[in-house]
Order: sequence, then structure tokens, then C-alpha cells
Amino acid sequence: MKKNIALVTAAACLIIAGCGQKPEPEKSTAKTDIPEKKVKTIGMSQCNLGEPWRVQMNEDVRKAAEKYPGVKVVFKDAQNDSLRQVSQVEEFINANVDAIIISPKEAAPLTPVVADAYKKGIPVIVLDRRVLGDQYTCFIGADNKKIGKAAGEWIVKKLGGKGNIVELKGLMTSTPGQDRHSGFRKGIEGSGVNVIFDVDMKWLEPEARKEMESALAVHDKIDLVYAHNDPGAHGAYLAAKAAGKEKDMLFVGIDALPQEGQMYVKQGILSASFEYPTGGKDAIEVLMDIFNGKKLEKEITIKSRVFTKDNIDKGGEWL
Ligand code: FRU
Repeated sequence: MKKNIALVTAAACLIIAGCGQKPEPEKSTAKTDIPEKKVKTIGMSQCNLGEPWRVQMNEDVRKAAEKYPGVKVVFKDAQNDSLRQVSQVEEFINANVDAIIISPKEAAPLTPVVADAYKKGIPVIVLDRRVLGDQYTCFIGADNKKIGKAAGEWIVKKLGGKGNIVELKGLMTSTPGQDRHSGFRKGIEGSGVNVIFDVDMKWLEPEARKEMESALAVHDKIDLVYAHNDPGAHGAYLAAKAAGKEKDMLFVGIDALPQEGQMYVKQGILSASFEYPTGGKDAIEVLMDIFNGKKLEKEITIKSRVFTKDNIDKGGEWL
């Protein structure tokens, strides 16, 4: 009897000890040792969910990941705060996720934490906005300089070579803002199109509306507003409408979501919207390639289209 009790106790101890066992500390979890059946966890760090475009990006990530039963995505929203985004990426690193997708708010503040994850061997996909340097696995995004330049050239043509422009810029500490600005200036170079008012509206519609009110207060003749995103262009339109001036000028934006920019084009609010694909699906596909050991490019450029009243029913036109 005593012997039996001792055996049972020993077995129970073993079971309990087994159950209580802590997982290996993260640094010793070599990627190659992961058993085949283990679920891969991807940390998705989104800089904010304030704009429909970012909600769409997360949705694209979620939908693409759903196709792979062995993949789980954990989403974190930094609510437009770079410091919060840094700590959320740190949380992913500490949780020893199998990969990270990050759409960073700003380049400089997010660079060190991305480099840290990369150096620890976690594949990091940088999506849409860049970090500085090359300490990440892969950057995916459309070519913002090309989009800005195409917008500039389109505007020069539309205005017959001359006119007064308001440029409402995206956050200039983020790379799409910088590139949509420099590309645009190249596109209008040598023409009679002049930027008479230029301000950072930080990608935000209410901010764009407020800035446009200032532009309207100081400038009598505005021919066109070029905003670095569709919420910005719409904010400017609302300000012009409130001043009874929306018919005096044209509005051009970037993003061209079907439910946002493309709809504004159909409604005649925007003259053109340049597509900026979210890249959410591409990020998942690239990670699947990484998980399967395929070699990949450091940079993946997604194509984009322009939508105008004339081409929208035909699905826009490729740049
Ligand atoms: C959303 C957004 C988009 C824009 C992108 C640039 O936050 O402002 O409208 O195209 O970010 O990174």
C-alpha cells in the first residue's frame, strides 16, 4: 500500500513538474528548432487606427493571414504615439513573436526598436512608412516619390500649365510625407504652377480643414489643393465649402480607397485620387515565404493607379 502511494505521489510530482515547466527563455529559442506544428505568431504594430486607410490595412493583414491556419496575428494600435509604438514593439520582442509587421508613425523614433528586433533574429516587415537605415528584413510600400511626381504632372496638365496651389502635407517626420512632397515639386518643376501655401496637416482631416481655413483667409485665388492623403483633401474641401468657395478650385488626394477617395472622385469632390495600396496582404505573403525559408528581396514596391472621373469606371489607370 505504502509503495503504491509513493508511486502515485512520484507520478503526480512528475506531472505537476511537467505542467509547471516554464517555456525556454526567448534568447535560446532558435528559429530552426520550432516544431512544424507550432503556430506562428505575428505581431502587427499599427501606428494608429484613426483613418479608414489604416483600418483597411489591418483588415488586409487579417484576411490574408486567415488563409493560413498555422498563423496567428496579434494587433497593437499605437494611437498615433511614437513612444507607445516603441513599447508595443518591445512587448512583441519580449513575447518572442515569430515575426513583426510594423507600419511606423515616424522614421527616427522607431528605428532603434526595429533594429533591435531584427538583430535578435525576428523577421521584421516595415510597411508603408520607412525607418532609417537598413536594419530590418524587408520594406513593402508603393513608390511615394513616383506618386507625388505623377500628381504634380497631372496637376500641371489639368491646370493648363499654370495656377496657384495649396499643398497640405502629410506628417513630415514620416517618409511618405517627405516623398510625396519632393516628388510633387519635381512634377511641377519648370511649369507655371506655384505653391502659394504649404503646411503640415499631419495626415489628419480636422487639421487639414483648419489649415485650409487659414489658406482661404489669406489667398483670394486658389486653383487647386494637393493634399498628401484623401482625408486631407476632404478636410480642405469642407473648409472651402463652408466658405462657399468649393466650386472655385479643384481637390486632389492620395490613397484611393474604394470607400473613401474613389467615392469622392465619383461624387465629384476630388478631381483625382492616387492609389496607395496598404500592402497588408503582401506583408503576410512575404512572411509566409520567410517561414518557408525562401530568399526574398529587401524592398518590394507595390504598383499604384490614378482614379479620375474619366477612368474610374474602367478601374483607374496604372502609373
Ligand atoms: C493613414 C495615412 C494614409 C497615408 C499613409 C501614409 O494614416 O495617413 O492616409 O497614405 O498614412 O503613411
